[in-house]
Amino acid sequence: MAKKVLVSGGAGYIGSHVTVELIEAGYDVVVADNLSNCDMTGFEGVKKITGREEIPFYQIDCCDYASVDMLFTEHKIDAVIHFAAFKAVGESVAEPLMYYRNNLVSFLNILEVAKNHGGCNVLFSSSATVYGEAEVLPVTEQTPRLPSTSPYGNTKQMCEDILRDVVFATSSSDAVINGIALRYFNPIGAHPSALIGELPRGVPNNLVPFITQTAIGKRECLSIFGNDYPTEDGTCLRDYIDVVDLAKAHVAAVSRMVEGRMKKGYEIFNVGTGRPVSVYELVSAFEKVNNLRLNYRFVDRRPGDVMAIWADTKLANEELGWKAERTVEETLASAWAWEKYLAGSGNN
Ligand code: UFG
Repeated sequence: MAKKVLVSGGAGYIGSHVTVELIEAGYDVVVADNLSNCDMTGFEGVKKITGREEIPFYQIDCCDYASVDMLFTEHKIDAVIHFAAFKAVGESVAEPLMYYRNNLVSFLNILEVAKNHGGCNVLFSSSATVYGEAEVLPVTEQTPRLPSTSPYGNTKQMCEDILRDVVFATSSSDAVINGIALRYFNPIGAHPSALIGELPRGVPNNLVPFITQTAIGKRECLSIFGNDYPTEDGTCLRDYIDVVDLAKAHVAAVSRMVEGRMKKGYEIFNVGTGRPVSVYELVSAFEKVNNLRLNYRFVDRRPGDVMAIWADTKLANEELGWKAERTVEETLASAWAWEKYLAGSGNN
């Protein structure tokens, strides 16, 4: 019988891509989402891509213990992938209580319910933000985490620690929790079908949605934050990981858990490409592959940005048997195809 995976936050950008890849790999999936930061576009897209009309969807808030408990009562869950969280760095600085409550309580509920239902495999969606401004690049999973500069980043660190502690405490009980934290670098792009992709509400915080919205005429001009960094072209370096590649890393991690191939009860993997790309290079690649010119200007640095970060991906490559495959050009073409699809569908 197929293993069943609960995807919390499964209607969102990364969650929808992961749901597709799980289904295509033969898993049964249950999606839970409170739709606080997305609508049903992503979930409808998942159904179209997979041709599955019957994927169970629950509009619930994981901060409500009884709702999470109901999911585990109705379904025999073999693994949970927990995405349901707020993710805007700036907003988290302005609204720390909202961030701590939402991101911590939802994860605590998932873990507590999983434990009370006899244990489970739990995959937590973490972030390269935990490394801060690392001194040595690329960062490995052993690179020390640095104190976070935002409540958002703090919640990622705290949830990693909570998972580690719960794994330890349950390891010799009859309700074992196994845990994997995936530390994402910068997820970008969209599914090749252009039926799902990133759908930011309001003005995008992240680079690629801002680029595609500028290219389509929704925004006047892209501001490139800083061209005076001590990098080759003066702009920041990041590790941009294709969202479908990222989704496949989740399938590899879930398989490792449900097939009993973990080497420790709690494991951490970087999920990136290992390839640093500057903001300027990314903008130029977008222009080239899509054959257009983008309106942009250089402005002051954005407070809180690190100059450079990219992943050492050896551990994920070797242990998960996974590797990022799509080129930056393919990914940027997919982001543009998605923006054009949105414009045509009246969704934008
Ligand atoms: N940038 C611009 N103009 C924009 C937006 C971004 O020049 O309009 C630049 C930023 O200064 C940065 C790069 O593009 O150099 C990438 O910025 P993003 O906002 O897309 O991504 P970040 O690297 O800042 O943040 C991402 C995730 C966060 C996570 C962080 C660290 O969005 O959730 O990586 O891991 F915390």
